[in-house]
Amino acid sequence: MHEQLQRLRDDAERVVDPDMWSYLNRGSGDQRTVTEAHDAWDRYRLRPRVLRDVSHVSTELPLFGGVWRTPIGIAPTAFHAVLHPEGEVATATGAAAAGAPMVLSSRSTRRIEDVAAAVDGPWWFQVYLMRERAITAALIERAAAAGATAMVLTADTPYVGHRARTPALARPLPLGDDQALINVRDHFPEGVEDYWELIDQRADLSLGDIAWVADVCELPVIVKGVLRGDEALACIDAGADAIWVSNHGGRQLDRAISTAAALPDVVTAVGDSVPVIVDGGVRDGFDALTALALGASAVMLGRPVMWALAAEGADGVAGILDELTGELRHAMGLAGAACLGDLDPSLVSGR
Ligand SMILES: Cc1cc2nc3c(=O)[nH]c(=O)nc-3n(C[C@H](O)[C@H](O)[C@H](O)COP(=O)(O)O)c2cc1C
Repeated sequence: MHEQLQRLRDDAERVVDPDMWSYLNRGSGDQRTVTEAHDAWDRYRLRPRVLRDVSHVSTELPLFGGVWRTPIGIAPTAFHAVLHPEGEVATATGAAAAGAPMVLSSRSTRRIEDVAAAVDGPWWFQVYLMRERAITAALIERAAAAGATAMVLTADTPYVGHRARTPALARPLPLGDDQALINVRDHFPEGVEDYWELIDQRADLSLGDIAWVADVCELPVIVKGVLRGDEALACIDAGADAIWVSNHGGRQLDRAISTAAALPDVVTAVGDSVPVIVDGGVRDGFDALTALALGASAVMLGRPVMWALAAEGADGVAGILDELTGELRHAMGLAGAACLGDLDPSLVSGR
């Protein structure tokens, strides 16, 4: 793990509510998948090229009409108001300062429109298909109207994974309904009492829902939570515009394979047809370099951003994105790659 990230994690642990700390860090079940995530990247080794002109190394990423200064971005994570008073607005401010891709969670504790204003550039919205479809549709429409340029449909959460001491939804966290329900409450049907039931994830989501999301907003749909090449192809056949390799940070199916192990299979199946994004256990610039060389277009961070947010707010988020990007840029130079397009699987050895 990058030194500064370890420091931010330690600082965050001192200030974050213990229930939130557990919610944030734990994986599901016996924690096999969460524990293996970083080590799986660390098992790869690099095969550098030499005598390439690397006097200028660019980490610039063009994707879905947006251009970012770094391919290291922010995965969607829930309930940032428990970590910092400005919540997702602070996260977005950090992303904007670093020129990094940002994905806003459906479980945002700040209004979608306020977060969009802080990003000040392209951003994506993460969609949980909620039991009440009309609420999901309303959130997608609002995000699109606020400037989201793609939708990220989370596919790996028909049920929330079993995580000891951690809640399925926000109730046991130190989070009032005013924050937890800030985006959904306007869309509740009249007279409903158990509104938490309405916004729980649907267990019947299917391949057809990719087209449903696209119909609601007419934006590219990225399917998040894919770990197999054949599944990636099925999603693409059903209309997916990108595949996001993820095991939800080890929070869903315990013993699911690491994303580091899954990525090559997905990239091989998908070829050049759509971009592939990856997250899970990425903790330094070398993990990011490995993922990009194996064929990912962008590499996303979940917990690291939450630690940075809790410890130092927007500056912490921007700082850790800058640090990891700097480490990536330096490693690219030493590997003989002047831009992301110079990265390919031949730079990586073993598993
Ligand atoms: C506390 C927490 C909350 C999360 N909330 C969401 C969410 O609301 N939507 C979603 O698609 N994924 C969510 N995720 C999964 C992340 O998007 C991402 O897949 C994962 O955190 C990446 O692994 P990492 O934490 O090791 O970087 C969450 C993860 C954590 C740790």
